[in-house]
Amino acid sequence: MLNKQQKVDTLLMMGIEMNRIHDLDILFERLLTRARQFVNADAGSIYIRKGDRLEFAHSQNATLQKKILPGEKLIYSTFSLPIDSKSIAGYAALTKKMLCIPDVYKLPLTKDYRFSKKFDGVAGYVCRSMLTIPLLSAKKDVLGILQIINAQNKQGQIRAFRESDEKVMLHFAGIASVAGERAQMTRAMILRMIRMAEMRDPKETGPHANRVAEVSLELYEAWAERRKLDPKEIERTRDKLRMGAMLHDVGKVAISDDILKKPESLTADEFEIMKLHTVHGARLFSNVQSDYDEVAADIALNHHERWDGNGYPGHVDSVNGKPLPGYECRDGSRQHGKKGTEISIFGRIVALADVYDALCSKRSYKEPWDEPRSIQTIRNGAGTHFDPELVEIFLNKLPCIRAIQKRHPEAGWGEEKSNRSKHYD
Ligand code: C2E
Ligand code: SIN
Ligand code: SIN
Ligand code: SIN
Ligand code: FE
Ligand code: FE
Repeated sequence: MLNKQQKVDTLLMMGIEMNRIHDLDILFERLLTRARQFVNADAGSIYIRKGDRLEFAHSQNATLQKKILPGEKLIYSTFSLPIDSKSIAGYAALTKKMLCIPDVYKLPLTKDYRFSKKFDGVAGYVCRSMLTIPLLSAKKDVLGILQIINAQNKQGQIRAFRESDEKVMLHFAGIASVAGERAQMTRAMILRMIRMAEMRDPKETGPHANRVAEVSLELYEAWAERRKLDPKEIERTRDKLRMGAMLHDVGKVAISDDILKKPESLTADEFEIMKLHTVHGARLFSNVQSDYDEVAADIALNHHERWDGNGYPGHVDSVNGKPLPGYECRDGSRQHGKKGTEISIFGRIVALADVYDALCSKRSYKEPWDEPRSIQTIRNGAGTHFDPELVEIFLNKLPCIRAIQKRHPEAGWGEEKSNRSKHYD
């Protein structure tokens, strides 16, 4: 239980803490933890609104957690509820009002909403006191619902929520809503950037970006499973990786058409300009702060590094493109790229997915290569151009990669029209 000083600290730090978090999922999880701590509540849940339904997104329960092994995760089934007056969470979302219920098993019959005993029965847990708070955007749209369950007194007995609890929870909800809304807006902005990149060069960019993103996801999942990463963490990363991979070449918008669309080989000077698309891309994300931007900037900057250190742009500042201290070119020695695991895992993954796709595709400067030749080039690049472990994963995933190519055919490959329109929905 928090003492008075700790409570004051929490209230003061809450705004700063919440505004540092840019992932909606992590944000809501933290909100739940802090809210439960503050009122010494045994359990709690978060619902996120998806259209006209509430999706059960997080659950915490100290009593149930004690019954399982330390480190193990509480398994709860996910479900969704309609936003209507029949359930407690639905009612709070519908009316946009906080609901404070001393005992959910003694609801007045005059109320429309009912507590679903189903949930208690399945989980082997008994809910009593419940505080349900809508999380509202600035425009008063419902972002989600925060539900705090079974407040406890010093002796650990369940008590009703007090008016002072309600006030504090409203404050928490306000802070979380502002931070949550910003996280959603950033995500929407990135989706708009993907569409704009497709509009500039719809012939090439759209299908190429989609194939690189999906192949990258396949490689990442296999890589992450080998490391037994937390499935929730993998799921969260997928979304960011997909968007970052789709935008890997967005920096090419800063390259003039006479270089970008040149039908033959680039001169050395032209290639130096072309290499800057990595830094241009990273810079596009440099002053917006979110997890999405961080991954997108990482991929834009690092997708042309090579495992053996002969790639580009190397150790540079992602804003001005200048070498970082200690990595300046010295007389007689060439500037080296990042090497091996100095290159972020996302950079290593997208490097492989991008080159394979460039080889299989027509470019202004080359005809498509057939599959055996393209695969052989990737195989030969293990340990020189590419992370050898990722090459191994890639070779095991060929059927899957062919399916992705089929789902996102190049313009002019036939039935692509109906397929392509999917990305503009
Ligand atoms: P891109 O066309 O998307 O190609 C991405 C990467 O795939 C290239 O990175 C390279 O590693 C690989 N790749 C593409 N085509 C070939 C190929 O025919 N043979 C081999 N061995 N690898 C290939 P890179 O070289 O750093 O080039 C980056 C970007 O620069 C390319 O993106 C493309 O937009 C442009 N570029 C590269 N070379 C030329 C060129 O000769 N002419 C023109 N017009 N553009 C080029
Ligand atoms: C998707 O992008 O939605 C599917 C990618 C995959 O097959 O993993
Ligand atoms: C763009 O991002 O608009 C262009 C990228 C490309 O040409 O591949
Ligand atoms: C690895 O496990 O391969 C290193 C982790 C990383 O490079 O991100
Ligand atoms: Fe590139
Ligand atoms: Fe590319």
